[in-house]
Amino acid sequence: MSEIDFSSLPKHVAIIMDGNGRWAKKRSLPRILGHKQGVRTVKEIVKASSSLGIRVLTLYAFSTENWKRPQSEIKGLFSLLLQFLKKELREIHKNNVRLRILGDISKFPDKIQKELLSACELTGNNTGLEFNIALNYGARQEILRAFEKMAQEGIKDFTEEKFSEFLYTRGQPDPDLLIRTSGEMRISNFLLWQIAYCEIYITEKFWPDFNENDLKEAIIEYQKRERRFGAL
Ligand code: IPE
Ligand code: IPE
Ligand code: MG
Repeated sequence: MSEIDFSSLPKHVAIIMDGNGRWAKKRSLPRILGHKQGVRTVKEIVKASSSLGIRVLTLYAFSTENWKRPQSEIKGLFSLLLQFLKKELREIHKNNVRLRILGDISKFPDKIQKELLSACELTGNNTGLEFNIALNYGARQEILRAFEKMAQEGIKDFTEEKFSEFLYTRGQPDPDLLIRTSGEMRISNFLLWQIAYCEIYITEKFWPDFNENDLKEAIIEYQKRERRFGAL
């Protein structure tokens, strides 16, 4: 088996965590238990990314379209998010991980907003892995928001660099590697601007079954790709 070349790690890995529901269904369990198991994978992947030395990890946790799900499932996801913050924040902070929220959390319950903001504040000066959680995130919303902010500031300098400063990912490199679990071949409104030249890796594994080794495998596969960026 080949090994990871640490001199050419992807700077930014973005993951569409998919398949929690199907993982549960396969076991005749309620969907929420799939999400619960998915949180364990989140912990493992954050830890692994941090120790591998990846600069940015973005996890797609809740899309602007996920409000279409039953209220009971949405509530269950919120409660798992709260538990995750309560249980894992200390460890995250200890590991020098810096948390950032991508998305508009103003529609989330007050308690969660508070916890999220204080988690970002607590970890704000950390210098290790930048861990982005995409929550009520939609790339189209992000792009419109950027236009709106530029208009408010009266900016007419429409360059790619300037525009990028108004996205949630400001200051961060674009993803080099996009992973989607559970075999779906779609983007689902994720980071549309930022993934212009991203390498895509799809695995059939459901998110709750994804682990550190699978992440390493994806990175090894990424390192075999020839990135041309339009040149020869
Ligand atoms: C991904 O798993 C988690 C979220 C979108 C919150 P899904 O809930 O989409 O699982 P499937 O796609 O139904 O299997
Ligand atoms: C994408 O998964 C959103 C997240 C992982 C949060 P979905 O399961 O919501 O995407 P679709 O509906 O299959 O496109
Ligand atoms: Mg899904």
